[in-house]
Amino acid sequence: MECQRNAEASAEPRRETCLGPLEAAVIGTGWCGGIRAETLSRSALCAKLHICDIRPDRLAEVKALTNPATATLDYRDIIGNDAVKVVYVCTTPEHTHFPIARDCLRAGKHVLLEKPIAMELFEADELIAIAERGGLKFTIGYSQRFNTKFAYAKKKLADGTLGKPVSVMVSRHLSRALGKKIASRVRLSPAAMESTHDLDLVFWLLEPARPARVYAQGAYGFMQPVNGSYDVMWSTVTMDNGVLVAIGGGWNLPPSYPNYCTTWIEITGTEGSLFLDDSSRDNWLTTAKDGISFPMSTMPGEQVDHVFAGQMGPETLHFLESVILDRPPMVAPQSARRVMECYLGADLSA
Ligand SMILES: NC(=O)c1ccc[n+]([C@@H]2O[C@H](COP(=O)([O-])OP(=O)(O)OC[C@H]3O[C@@H](n4cnc5c(N)ncnc54)[C@H](O)[C@@H]3O)[C@@H](O)[C@H]2O)c1
Repeated sequence: MECQRNAEASAEPRRETCLGPLEAAVIGTGWCGGIRAETLSRSALCAKLHICDIRPDRLAEVKALTNPATATLDYRDIIGNDAVKVVYVCTTPEHTHFPIARDCLRAGKHVLLEKPIAMELFEADELIAIAERGGLKFTIGYSQRFNTKFAYAKKKLADGTLGKPVSVMVSRHLSRALGKKIASRVRLSPAAMESTHDLDLVFWLLEPARPARVYAQGAYGFMQPVNGSYDVMWSTVTMDNGVLVAIGGGWNLPPSYPNYCTTWIEITGTEGSLFLDDSSRDNWLTTAKDGISFPMSTMPGEQVDHVFAGQMGPETLHFLESVILDRPPMVAPQSARRVMECYLGADLSA
């Protein structure tokens, strides 16, 4: 692919020359990895797709969907393949993130790693250091930054429409089924697994302010017998410029709730306010068999025939473009580390 400088086409500076389509791999082709693999398989930016999962049945399913160049049960085949330049690490349980991402970075591959960046801060530091030493792009899958509503919030804060920000509130609830899936595989709190998206989102909205103090409370309910986890946590963060942030995250919506994830956001500033309804109540599907559901309401989104509804599709391609065009990816790993510090603080406080 030839690449010429075109200042008008993009606000970001471009290099005179850039790489052509690249070979990319997805390690862990479950729910999110399956979305990323399908997105890559449809894109001309991905020269060849390689997939890996330890579950042969799921690997076969995604293989049939994406027609990859290779499919393997052992991620070391990806590590050892020099043609693979970009790797999406989408495995669970979450303690697999650090060793697999570390091996990929050590092998000189650019990495998008699903959140959480790691289980321990020193692991996050090691990943960041290896990526920096190798001149590699390394990002974390904070997909909500690719939600058009939240991109709009960033724009309205940046262009001064809302004036000086005063407060941001995010309330996010997940279905009990998703909560059980997550809480059954890993002992991480709703702050670490759900509010993590909103901590990242709000810290990004409020840049250059930084979080200075966090206080949190949790409440028990349905999830306690499953893994001892809170059903809901609320974290109050004071930014270093005084802005008040309140972030609630939970995973106990009852089975009959017609939605996977529902979110409400309130931003106030000295010159305006912005309320965003991301509850997906604008799409109703009713069937005799299953009653009412709100389709396209998962956090990653989904492929709907020829378009992707939601954020994970565009986020997946954005990372490939960041590598091809040598541009910084949207999410710096240092910001994921800051988010991790904050939810660890919230856990301690609660
Ligand atoms: N950005 C978002 O909106 C979003 C949403 C949900 C989940 N996530 C994150 O994405 C990650 C994946 O979540 P999911 O719901 O897709 O999980 P999942 O359990 O559906 O899929 C994970 C897959 O990894 C595979 N795996 C495990 N160990 C492996 C190994 N050593 N090599 C290859 N494959 C391996 C499993 O067999 C499984 O198929 C999680 O860590 C989660 O935090 C992000």
